[in-house]
Amino acid sequence: MAFRPPNGVSDQPFDAQFMKGPVWRLEDPGQAVEAVATARPIGIQLIHGRFDPVVDLSGLGFRRIETLVTYEGPLDPAVGMPSGIRPGDPADANACREIAGAAFTHDRWHADPEIPDRAAVAFKGAWVENDLRGRADTVLIATDPDDARMVQGFLLVLERRGVAIIDLIAVAPRMQGRGVGRRLMTALSAACGGRCAIGRAGTQETNLDAIRLYERCGWRLVDRKITWHWTPRE
Ligand SMILES: CC(C)(COP(=O)(O)OP(=O)(O)OC[C@H]1O[C@@H](n2cnc3c(N)ncnc32)[C@H](O)[C@@H]1OP(=O)(O)O)[C@@H](O)C(=O)NCCC(=O)NCCS
Repeated sequence: MAFRPPNGVSDQPFDAQFMKGPVWRLEDPGQAVEAVATARPIGIQLIHGRFDPVVDLSGLGFRRIETLVTYEGPLDPAVGMPSGIRPGDPADANACREIAGAAFTHDRWHADPEIPDRAAVAFKGAWVENDLRGRADTVLIATDPDDARMVQGFLLVLERRGVAIIDLIAVAPRMQGRGVGRRLMTALSAACGGRCAIGRAGTQETNLDAIRLYERCGWRLVDRKITWHWTPRE
């Protein structure tokens, strides 16, 4: 890191790999003015922050990018593992990256017109790959029930203090609307329900497919936050 970020701001080296320069995360909206003043002369490429809807950073050079909604619901430890689901490993990285590249369109990287699509795709692809290489606690791969090599979708889970957090879930576009997402959600209960009583997922308010999936599983909205971006052109 070339420059120390001001108080209330953290450096984001993972994000920086895809933005041709340093990326900061604004943790404290009270530091927004200071963050922008410090960022501009030293070539910071992106400052992002996620805050309650009462916070408005639009007068400070930030743009409103998305609304992140968080859903939670109980997992059912009694449910069995559906057929056509297997644990994943690093050998699934290419198939999962390909699905991620086609399926993710609502996230804040894709939603920001100032971020090139290729950066958004590379970012999500690297995230998927890291999860498959050990970052995720549980990796569930949906396959053709007759051919375990034919990957249809994936669910990557972080387990934190009895909560199974959906880090990423995606189904190949040609397979969507056929129950694969629902099968992955059942598998989440089967795989994690013994350790985690609760499941949690964040998604964009515009991602109606994901919201319907979570609501059909009995999950409910528990939080709503606005995502803000500052980029140097502001
Ligand atoms: C969100 C997502 C994972 C849902 O997966 P999916 O496989 O399309 O979901 P399902 O097929 O289980 O459910 C979708 C619909 O198909 C219907 N369906 C379920 N089983 C079915 C079957 N056997 N045959 C036909 N339709 C079926 C469901 O009733 C549902 O309909 P509804 O939305 O009108 O209620 C998928 O849309 C996706 O990958 N989106 C892009 C990536 C993304 O945004 N991920 C979320 C990030 S948080």
